[in-house]
Amino acid sequence: MRMYDIIAKKRDGGTLSEAEIAFAVNGYVAGDIPDYQMSALLMAIYLRGMTDAETATLTEVMANSGDRVDLSSIPGVKVDKHSTGGVGDKTTLVIVPIVAACGVPVAKMSGRGLGHTGGTIDKMEAVPGTRTSLTQEEFFAQVRRIGLSVIGQSGQIAAADKLLYALRDVTATVGCIPLIASSIMSKKLAAGSDAILLDVTMGTGAFMQNLDDAIELARLMVSIGTAHGRRMAALITDMDKPLGHNIGNALEVAESMAVLQGRGPADLTEVCLQLAANMLVLAGKGDLTACRAMAERALADGTAFEKCCQMFEAQGGDTRVLRDPGLFAKAPYCYDLVVREGEGYITANDVEKIGNASVLLGAGRLKKGDPIDFSAGITLHKKLGDAVRPGDVLCTFYASDPALFAAAEEMYRSGLTISAREPAAPPLIYARVTPEGVERF
Ligand code: URA
Repeated sequence: MRMYDIIAKKRDGGTLSEAEIAFAVNGYVAGDIPDYQMSALLMAIYLRGMTDAETATLTEVMANSGDRVDLSSIPGVKVDKHSTGGVGDKTTLVIVPIVAACGVPVAKMSGRGLGHTGGTIDKMEAVPGTRTSLTQEEFFAQVRRIGLSVIGQSGQIAAADKLLYALRDVTATVGCIPLIASSIMSKKLAAGSDAILLDVTMGTGAFMQNLDDAIELARLMVSIGTAHGRRMAALITDMDKPLGHNIGNALEVAESMAVLQGRGPADLTEVCLQLAANMLVLAGKGDLTACRAMAERALADGTAFEKCCQMFEAQGGDTRVLRDPGLFAKAPYCYDLVVREGEGYITANDVEKIGNASVLLGAGRLKKGDPIDFSAGITLHKKLGDAVRPGDVLCTFYASDPALFAAAEEMYRSGLTISAREPAAPPLIYARVTPEGVERF
């Protein structure tokens, strides 16, 4: 078999066999296939697509390219959740404790932020002392003891994805449904949970920009997981606005704790309750109505907040900042961005640009390994659809160096439009996708 022929077959719109996909992926991981040939194949896939069967095979080959975690020694139905990425998306910090407080074990591996999107592991590390790298024994023992743990993904999970994602990132081949589906599902299958809830984001801050594409991605991932014996569901959630008001690591932890203490923003609280309720349904705790009531109770009676503190404490975190976020180290400089001219409504506020502005302030990284300033970020005071007039404060920037404000402001304003006509409010959740079909809201 030759890589040249595999590339040519896909370039001409052919369907790759299992042997061809395994040859390309395993050969690339082994170092036998060079970057330029794999890049050509990725671009051919980007342009020609893959059948569902090809995507399922690619996922399986990638999942088998590294370690597979066996969670069977932990009693109960283990439920995982994955978001396709967003800005201000701090739902994991809220829903994992809710679900664990309802008696469902969560052994979760999460990622770091890259580009304009944030990552749970960076947010957790904003809590001083928190360890996000545990041995497998520590990870399992913690889930058995207190019912939850969130750690960083080891390089040995879906090793092919790590290499392929880095190549996609520099060859303009990230935004491709079969490649995204196989990337996400290979990691989720290898991570070993029995049930997986997918949060497929849609909007200016997400990979998916329209509902049909988001549903197609969700449908494909649900069908791959179901074929591997996992209980699967997906929610399509809005990412035309960041969730809540805070973007940046310590700021997002503070806002998550506010939700867990019953005083968080309504949009973030609602999305978290819906995601948590769907995870509980997958775990077999009842129907959606019963599971929603269970999740609401765990928030209202404080058990979810206490679960969250227990998790951080078990991982070495200083829980004083969770109980009193005023104790987080503060950014030394802040800057209010005001409306200069134009009275009306915010009709565009590009979420990718908001995320990039936050990265420019030091809250994220442009390349793997870049340092992060946990105190940096943005608090939004006005969001898409809000009425504004000159002099209103749109948002507050936080940074450790005031020289960073100018570039971040330019980035933020480049995605902002104020117009006379009030825009229609997007729903928080557009659809639910299960093996049984698609429910649009
Ligand atoms: N998240 C992933 O893990 N992989 C992708 O390809 C896109 C988003």
